[in-house]
Formats: sequence, structure tokens, C-alpha cells
Amino acid sequence: MKVLVTGGAGYIGSHMVKLLAASGLSPEVVDDLSGGRREAVVDAPLHVGDVGDSAFIDAVLARTRPAAVMHFAGSIQVGESMREPARYYRNNLVATLALLDAMRRHGTTRLVFSSTAAIFGNPVHVPIGEDHPKAPINPYGRSKWMVEQALADHDAAYGLKSVCLRYFNAAGADPDGVLGECHDPETHLIPLVLQVASGRRPHIAIYGDDYQTADGTCVRDYIHVQDLCEAHLLALRYLAAGSASTGFNLGNGHGFSVREVITAARRVTGHPIPEVLQARRAGDPPSLVADARRARQTLGWQPRHADLDTIIGHAWSWELRHACWTRP
Ligand code: UFG
Repeated sequence: MKVLVTGGAGYIGSHMVKLLAASGLSPEVVDDLSGGRREAVVDAPLHVGDVGDSAFIDAVLARTRPAAVMHFAGSIQVGESMREPARYYRNNLVATLALLDAMRRHGTTRLVFSSTAAIFGNPVHVPIGEDHPKAPINPYGRSKWMVEQALADHDAAYGLKSVCLRYFNAAGADPDGVLGECHDPETHLIPLVLQVASGRRPHIAIYGDDYQTADGTCVRDYIHVQDLCEAHLLALRYLAAGSASTGFNLGNGHGFSVREVITAARRVTGHPIPEVLQARRAGDPPSLVADARRARQTLGWQPRHADLDTIIGHAWSWELRHACWTRP
């Protein structure tokens, strides 16, 4: 079964490609390499180009004729989306509409879409289930929620079947040590903390300790990238079985504060990891924790690396051995 993976050279997409190939499927990658890395594409052909370029994506679909598309490509930084909303609407919404048009022209009727907990905005309750109100508070979250709504309309009108997977905080690295997280600039807590432990940064900034949480720092639901990818594989099987379009929240259902993450990283790395308290970062909700029972029940999803020390441990191996392929 041929699967086209957009953004397959990026952090989560590259882990997905490796898992698809290991599962006997035939992934092919589309990536413009604006954020992704050529070195991250293992076991799959890479088509370099922009998903929003209709002529390009038409040619790729004509050549590959995939049974399904997994759409990871997009812009992912909340803060940047506040400063440059046009980029988010163009890369996340307009480009996805171009992809959907091309899929329609080529008769590709199944899509697994990378969505986000950011579609829920400031939660009115945690844990956050699928029925929680969708009220995104930044252009990043709005662009993803608009795509989710467009996908529902594309199902009603054109029969396009989709599964939207709302990631909470993706973290960790390939347990085999081949792949890992590599953002430029890096903004995510766990890789930044580990860069302190490896000596690449002097300290970790804590963005606020006056939130309404147990220790005053923000609480997040960290989910191992491998567990996320396994949920995608199950979503693909769900669609292949002819099931209805839907969305699932993906997290472990357990929140860790910024301070708990730093403490765990000290335990895993043996490094003191100096911290510096800073002002709150704009747009950070105090607590985001998933209620992922639906994915467990409907897809049979069973996270295998839910333990925070395991997640950090895999990311630490990657930081020590590869760190964006810049070091031997
Ligand atoms: N944090 C720090 N110091 C840092 C970096 C982060 O204290 O140097 C804090 C943040 O303020 C936040 C927590 O650590 O409270 C996690 O921050 P991340 O940047 O790692 O992750 P976010 O929760 O902000 O965002 C992630 C994804 C988004 C997605 C969101 C949805 O990056 O794409 O989860 O939950 F929208």
C-alpha cells in the first residue's frame, strides 16, 4: 500500500516514514525541506517541493498514485503565528486546500491530518476530550481548526475520508536512535532542556511560575513520537476499513509541569541543568492534558512509551549522538 507522507523529512513525519516502511507499507515523501532534513528520510523516495504548488503535487500524485495521504507538512510555532499570521494561513490552510484539490483530481480519498491541541484554545476543563469546545487563541490553532472544518465539508460533498489527530506535546525520539527532533530555531521544552545538559546552552528559561498549577509552572501532556506514529498507522487502518471521518485527541492523559520536566531531565542526564525564571510566554495555557480514551477505544491505540523518563531518555540519546546531524 503506497502512502504519501507530506512533511516526511520533519520531526514527526520522518518517524512516521520509518514506521510505515517497517510495517510493510510503501511511503513516499513530499517535503520542501524548509524545516525538514534530507538526512531524516530513510527507506523512502523524497519528492522535494511545496504541497501548495498545484503543478508539483499533481505530478507527484500522478506518479505515485497513493492509497492515502498523511499530511504533516505545515508551520508549527504558536509565537511565530502571532507575528506572521499570513504564513500560517498560507502554509497550513491554503496549501492544504491545494493538496485536497489535487487529491480529488487523482481520486485519492483518504487523509490522515496532523492537527493540534491548540484548536481548543484555553481549556474550559481538563482533561480535554474530543467534544471540548474549539476556540483557538492564535493563528496556528485557527489555521488547523479551519482545515478540520474544511475536511468535514470535503467528506460531505466529495466523500473524502479523513482522520484528524490532535497532538498534545510530541516529544522523544526514535527508540533505535536513528531519528530525532531537529527544529531551527528550537522552541520546545524537552530538546532545549537537553541542550543545556549537553552543554549547548547555559541554562533553561522557565516561562512563568505564577500559573494556577501545583508548582506554578505550566502543565503539558508529553507524548512519545513513536506512540503518535502508531496512532497514525491505526488511523490509516481505520480509514482502510471504510470507517467514518473523525478526530482523535492524542496524549497520555497525564500532565507534567515545566519544573517536573526539568527535574526528570536532571535524573536522566545526571546534569544539574541550571534554570532561570523568566516572564510568562504569551499565549501559553496553564494546563493542557488529553482525554485520549476515544483513540484507545476506537483505534485500539495503546501508548507504549508513556513514562516521562523514557521519553526524555530517548531524546537524550538523540541529543548525545546526532543532534540534528550536525555532530558525529
Ligand atoms: N517552556 C519553558 N521554557 C522554554 C520552552 C518552553 O518554560 O524554554 C514552557 C512553555 O512555556 C510551556 C511548556 O514549556 O509551558 C511547553 O512548551 P513547548 O514550547 O515545548 O510546547 P507548547 O505546549 O507551547 O506547544 C506544543 C506544540 C504546539 C502545539 C501545542 C499544543 O509545539 O505546536 O503544543 O499543545 F500547538
